Amino acid sequence: MADSYGYLSVLLWYNSHIGLRGYFVDYKYGNVRRTCPKNGERKMDVFEAIRTRRSIRKYKDEPVEKDKLLKIIEAARLAPSTLNRQPWSFVVVTDPEVKKKLRSACNQDWFAPAIIVECAFPEKAWVRDDGEEYWKLDVAVAVQNMVLAAWEEGLGICWIGAFREEEVKKILGIPEDARVLVMTALGYPAEKKGPVTNRKPLEEIVHYDHW
Ligand SMILES: Cc1cc2nc3c(=O)[nH]c(=O)nc-3n(C[C@H](O)[C@H](O)[C@H](O)COP(=O)(O)O)c2cc1C
Repeated sequence: MADSYGYLSVLLWYNSHIGLRGYFVDYKYGNVRRTCPKNGERKMDVFEAIRTRRSIRKYKDEPVEKDKLLKIIEAARLAPSTLNRQPWSFVVVTDPEVKKKLRSACNQDWFAPAIIVECAFPEKAWVRDDGEEYWKLDVAVAVQNMVLAAWEEGLGICWIGAFREEEVKKILGIPEDARVLVMTALGYPAEKKGPVTNRKPLEEIVHYDHW
């Protein structure tokens, strides 16, 4: 235990002094990892992404690079799921013609340069003894991984839950046994928003040891 604390304090000291200059130093294991290979600045950490992420509904007319889209899907691929069933599939839509059709199946007055359509296979997902199905939860976990990865990449994102599922399935040729859970709009932001503020206070939502 003492050893762990010693390790932690050395790590914290190094990271506050050297880490801020662009290196994350793992002293005990001898790893020196640059946090941002391009300009030496620390990249956004997970909590910073959580704190600053907002729904973006105005986008620049610029495409999202394919490697960024793949990195975002990779974030979904690595997500945990019940019994590691990974009951998901993703359709990346950037073709203007397909997007136009997709837009007609969504109840939105805005759209984005790229849309990722998040699908689930309920039959492949875990079901609890009492019948509770976990496919929605599994896919939602993967989607939030994508959202945070995209935000860290400087992309604006917005979840889209308002669409007509059967129409979307038809437009994209999604198999019968798949469900469309949600979509994610992606693009370079053309609007700025401050960090998240309008949430319920902690004291309203946390219970300790007993409700
Ligand atoms: C599952 C889910 C579905 C959503 N569907 C839509 C949608 O169809 N259209 C939309 O404009 N925003 C949608 N949103 C965005 C929410 O309205 C937004 O996250 C919420 O108002 C909080 O704002 P913020 O994301 O800027 O913090 C959705 C969010 C979630 C998590």
